[in-house]
Amino acid sequence: MTDTIVIFGASGDLTSRKLIPALYSMFAKKRLAKTTRIVGVSRSKFEHQQWRDSLRETTAKFSPKLFDAETWDQFSQHVFYHPGDIKSAEDFTSLAGFLSEIEDTPADGRLYYLSTMPQLYEEAIRQLGAAGLADDSDGYRRVIIEKPFGTDLESARKLNESIHQVFREDQIYRIDHYLGKETVQNIFAMRFGNTIFEPLWNRNYVDHVQITVAEEVVIGRRAGYYDTSGILRDMFQNHLLQLMMITAMEPPAKYDSTMNRDEKVKVLHSIRPMTGGDFANHTVRGQYDGYLDEEGVPANSQTETFAALKLYCDTWRWKNVPFYLRSGKGLSCRTTQIVIQFRQVPHMLFGEVGKSPDRNRLVIQVQPAEGIQIHFQTKVPDAGMKTRTSTLDFNFCRNGGSMPDAYQRLLMDAISGDASLFARSDEVELAWGIIDPIIEAWRSPAAPPLFRYPAGFWGPTESTDWMAKQKREWFDVCPVIG
Ligand code: BG6
Repeated sequence: MTDTIVIFGASGDLTSRKLIPALYSMFAKKRLAKTTRIVGVSRSKFEHQQWRDSLRETTAKFSPKLFDAETWDQFSQHVFYHPGDIKSAEDFTSLAGFLSEIEDTPADGRLYYLSTMPQLYEEAIRQLGAAGLADDSDGYRRVIIEKPFGTDLESARKLNESIHQVFREDQIYRIDHYLGKETVQNIFAMRFGNTIFEPLWNRNYVDHVQITVAEEVVIGRRAGYYDTSGILRDMFQNHLLQLMMITAMEPPAKYDSTMNRDEKVKVLHSIRPMTGGDFANHTVRGQYDGYLDEEGVPANSQTETFAALKLYCDTWRWKNVPFYLRSGKGLSCRTTQIVIQFRQVPHMLFGEVGKSPDRNRLVIQVQPAEGIQIHFQTKVPDAGMKTRTSTLDFNFCRNGGSMPDAYQRLLMDAISGDASLFARSDEVELAWGIIDPIIEAWRSPAAPPLFRYPAGFWGPTESTDWMAKQKREWFDVCPVIG
């Protein structure tokens, strides 16, 4: 049996920037079967060769390390293009005909990748069903769906319902590209492949957890989408909650898609719902100066480009340990990091050099300086019994690792039928159930203030003050790369 990957939205940015370079890299590393076919579908009228030529350029740009002309020529022989409109039943019939022409047997597996505008997901799924393209009585039929998966709980439910009319849950792969990042998967390895961390990973030793996804970039040309979305929909409902789930989950009995996701879902169930004053006291919202001048942003926009949330998991492990989730555009630097801040020692014996109230900290650098640091106290040489904070530093790349793009791993898993790193329907809906009430409170007349911040800072100063009031401090450190 061989595989066919059909990409809807083939002329879009994601296809040329991420999907084809990822498939090409897998091919160059000999991880994609030589027989795999890739079929692009969109409304533009291309010949096969025209599409291949346009992808050659972008692949050389986005996958420069592995690119060479000979490998590309071999790879591109497996790349096809078929024009088609998602709204046209006829085009789906003609696609079905084209696929059976290029496939060897009906038993060949098919992966449909929806890289179209989200408004077209339901229609694309319906058409696939109507054209008999979802029928997996011979070979597998799977569908990958890009984010955003709905814009709130209601739309996500509706989308799930429509998809379930055509595909079973085990055929659906909802992408959250953060789960494809090596360092995110390394959290599983670190937590469940060692004995030394897990005994401390609970309320007895952890004071709080900080999860930061900071971006230096501003909105730029994405204002049209972003202004209706805002940071909670764009980053929290998916990426930040995913990072929180993996940090907070219980060890699964087996590393497989059902058990992993069952444990992650339990975390979402355990998140304490915000009520009343929580929306003001447990959240900070911000917008960078200059956002209102971005092209396409209404002059009175109240859309957040920064948010910080304090969430609690009501479980034996985490009761009353705050999880601070923070993300923003136009911040000091690009960094995604998870900080496990341990409690102070119960009784201080030694004087400390410098101001370092947080003596033990584990920092998981998800990107861009992928690694893990442990901060701990050591004696200052020749200075009596004074201590200072030292760091044990593990860096993925210095240790012989390379960081493939997240899409490589996710495409590979979807081809091989492993859904562990994809979001399940209940996960998506529960995540909306956590985020929706906050968005609603922020849109109500009693919304907490929207603080301004200059681009290039760690968000509004009110976010720092908010932490200080709780006698805590953000770990505002830009990673050192190299
Ligand atoms: C996307 C968001 O899902 O993730 C973008 O829509 C954001 O707004 C991006 O910039 C961040 O991804 P990464 O992999 O660059 O951290």
